[in-house]
Amino acid sequence: MARYIAEGLKASGVDVNVANATDIQKEQDLLGYDGYVFGSATYHGQMMPAMKTVLFLAANLGLEGKIGASFGAFGWSGEAPDRIYETMRHILRLDMVHNPLSLKSLLSEGAREKAHEYGRAIGRKLVGTIVE
Ligand SMILES: Cc1cc2nc3c(=O)[nH]c(=O)nc-3n(C[C@H](O)[C@H](O)[C@H](O)COP(=O)(O)O)c2cc1C
Repeated sequence: MARYIAEGLKASGVDVNVANATDIQKEQDLLGYDGYVFGSATYHGQMMPAMKTVLFLAANLGLEGKIGASFGAFGWSGEAPDRIYETMRHILRLDMVHNPLSLKSLLSEGAREKAHEYGRAIGRKLVGTIVE
């Protein structure tokens, strides 16, 4: 999903760095971006542990006002994208896109297009906020 969202962002003319949450281990790994798109599948009603760590790291960085979005694959209940979205909104105080992207499977009909379009929507918001 991250890769398809990234393609949509690139189509909006935005530079993108895609990283696995497990590779983000210190606050400095999150610095230097105008926007953040965090995601996790839902396991046992929760986001995955590495994503929780990323949110704790990001909470110390003063990212208020930057652009944010969240996404995740799910099986039936799909709590993770909403939890990530609300944490990004209330704790990180990011300027969030209209809603999280929750997809049952990237293989389901139209899923890749939805992920791509979500990336384009983030890109539009991002491009609108960057003043050269
Ligand atoms: C052990 C286990 C627990 C899961 N728990 C949930 C859950 O609580 N709610 C839910 O919506 N999906 C749950 N799922 C389904 C996953 O979210 C779903 O398979 C998702 O597509 C996994 O994404 P991934 O293949 O990118 O890891 C669970 C799957 C497994 C294997």
